[in-house]
Amino acid sequence: MLPYARQSVDEEDVAAVVRVLHSDFLTTGPEVPAFENAFAEYVGAPHAVACSSGTAGLHLACLALGLKPDDQVIVPTISFVATANCARYCGADVIFCDVDPDSGLVTAETVSEAMDRADRSRLKAVFVVHLSGAAVDLARISSVTKAAGVALIEDACHSLGTRYDIEPGRQGLVGDCALSDFTVFSFHPVKTITTGEGGMITTRDPEAAERLARARNHGLIRSPEDWVEKAMAFDPVDGEPNPFIRQDIATLYAPAAASRDALPPEAVVSMQTWRSRWQ
Ligand SMILES: Cc1ncc(COP(=O)(O)O)c(C=O)c1O
Repeated sequence: MLPYARQSVDEEDVAAVVRVLHSDFLTTGPEVPAFENAFAEYVGAPHAVACSSGTAGLHLACLALGLKPDDQVIVPTISFVATANCARYCGADVIFCDVDPDSGLVTAETVSEAMDRADRSRLKAVFVVHLSGAAVDLARISSVTKAAGVALIEDACHSLGTRYDIEPGRQGLVGDCALSDFTVFSFHPVKTITTGEGGMITTRDPEAAERLARARNHGLIRSPEDWVEKAMAFDPVDGEPNPFIRQDIATLYAPAAASRDALPPEAVVSMQTWRSRWQ
């Protein structure tokens, strides 16, 4: 019987995972930017943002585009359901686009035909899927999307390492975003490389890369100089961060720590939260 997937994991891979397991960070540690930088360099894009799956990457791309209810997007009829679902997560309506019956890929003609069925004032993005390592004709499709003023997102979950024609005589690697706004990859074990579960989004737009990086982690911003509400984030007297959590809640609950059985459940939760953050 043909296996669904047979990943190749060697001793060097195992050693790399063990190294992380022995380190201080099991998530969002220094291995993540190292992977992002290596990935961006390989595909030839200036920005790569790692996330938890290809599905999450497609969803993040939709969020970075600002997709909202009543917007429309075009999605190929042949793909994994995640390509359409990610737009639905934002409330956008999906218009399905035919594929070439021989290749399974959308073409400039089928995209144009789907655009004719869309409400042009609501249409915000076209998704193309590079199916099983075969690239769509991005050069012709991107001229259609550019003329219509809509975003182009490449679902390259199957296609890390695929080359495509940027223009006659000039090739690029899928993910370089020479002709699109975002390219999304999956690292599920049936894909070209695997991290167990995982995904990556590449883009040439530095602001979009920042939006992606923020959205993948609940909008949390770690560097105080980038905090938006500085007045709320720092104590005006001593300049220390988060006065509400550090002083008010902690001061309220800390004396009760010795007799936590007497506290209401919500107070225990708050106290534990304070401990995990500040102790
Ligand atoms: C074309 C396509 N897009 C998106 C995804 C979603 O990727 P993930 O499984 O990493 O969420 C897949 C997964 O099979 C896929 O085949």
